[in-house]
Amino acid sequence: MPSYIVMGAQWGDEGKGKIVDVLAEKMDIVVRYQGGANAGHTVIHGDTKYVTHLIPSGVISGRSVNIIGNGCVVSPTTLLEEMDILRRQGVSFSPENFIVSPAAHMVLPVHQYLDKVLNEKIGTTVRGIGPAYTDKVQRTGIRWERACDGSFEEAYREHLDFVEKVYAIIEKKEMRTLRDGIPELVRTVESLKPFVRDARPVLAEAVKNDSNMLFEGAQGTFLDIDHGTYPFVTSSNTSIGGAYTGSGIFLDFKKRIGIVKSYTTRVGEGPFPTELFDETGETLRRHGNEYGATTGRPRRCGWLDLALLKQSCIINGFNYIVFSKISCLSGLKTLQVAVDYHPDGTPVYRELPGWEEDVLGCTDYLALPENCRRYIEFAEDFLGVPFGLISTGPDRDHVIERQPVF
Ligand code: IMP
Repeated sequence: MPSYIVMGAQWGDEGKGKIVDVLAEKMDIVVRYQGGANAGHTVIHGDTKYVTHLIPSGVISGRSVNIIGNGCVVSPTTLLEEMDILRRQGVSFSPENFIVSPAAHMVLPVHQYLDKVLNEKIGTTVRGIGPAYTDKVQRTGIRWERACDGSFEEAYREHLDFVEKVYAIIEKKEMRTLRDGIPELVRTVESLKPFVRDARPVLAEAVKNDSNMLFEGAQGTFLDIDHGTYPFVTSSNTSIGGAYTGSGIFLDFKKRIGIVKSYTTRVGEGPFPTELFDETGETLRRHGNEYGATTGRPRRCGWLDLALLKQSCIINGFNYIVFSKISCLSGLKTLQVAVDYHPDGTPVYRELPGWEEDVLGCTDYLALPENCRRYIEFAEDFLGVPFGLISTGPDRDHVIERQPVF
């Protein structure tokens, strides 16, 4: 069956948007299965730049059914805002082309507030993601099914009473603001009701019909709540398991695509063994325009960590890798890649020669400088997974296809 999954292999921001966009155009179904508006995908179509945080990228091409699965956490306000922005750019939404699972949980203003006051140490996106998942696992969350049976307002009022009892940290003034916001929130939830329906029969039908399906991962493998650098992680399963629990369907994915940036970046706090604090780190940030899509924060930058990526390949079973942003490495005399760790956790590096030539937009593998090809092939051999696509720039056609993706 022609089903594809795209996941970030590192700490997110690997450049998933571009490949997802190329794939989404040919898909019948596109599914988001974890996370929420903490993600940020930029898709450039012609002269128009679309930014999605929550909504599957398939809405842009307009030919697929787009599903926000049960594993996601979705803010009604953010969803409506994102839909409105996309509508102004010509994207249309109907209950036929856009579905929110009734079992997805809501991210509510109280979650955003709690994220701000409780999670500073993690450096979150402050979108309320962690507190919403906390409520889900604690069994005190509010699911989107509440939009359908008219019980949302009552559920949220009860929830705020509960939160007020549990969290002494919330000021009285804040509780008043949260309660004052209820009528507007109820109106927003009400307006989204037509899109809430069980997505599982749609997925089951798609499997039966051998439809093209794309599962669109958000964040990256090492932000996974189980497999990541806990506690400096997000609150969902960003690795392949999340696709199953977060959608309710089993698929034997034809391509399990890992997006690997040709160096490493991370936003927020947490371990980063190959991080660079010197001029080279600055150069990578500048060349790669490494600033968060959701928060605008400068990203931490460092060398490619193959030892870490080996683990990512094991977790996700990648059988196809997209190697991105190779053009950002031009001009570095030498490049270090981590191949192991010393007992104290510092990386064991292998040094490779760099290249001077600008490779931006290159579409021919053999036209790349020899040292650039050596770098790619060293990483490919180390990981033992074909590097099928090499991304050489931000545009859709800035790509070298070494192995067909379809
Ligand atoms: P949260 O997902 O907002 O709870 O943030 C938890 C951690 O995940 C923080 O370090 C964030 O910076 C990081 N994070 C969340 N979403 C993304 C993303 O889309 N790209 C990169 N890092 C992210």
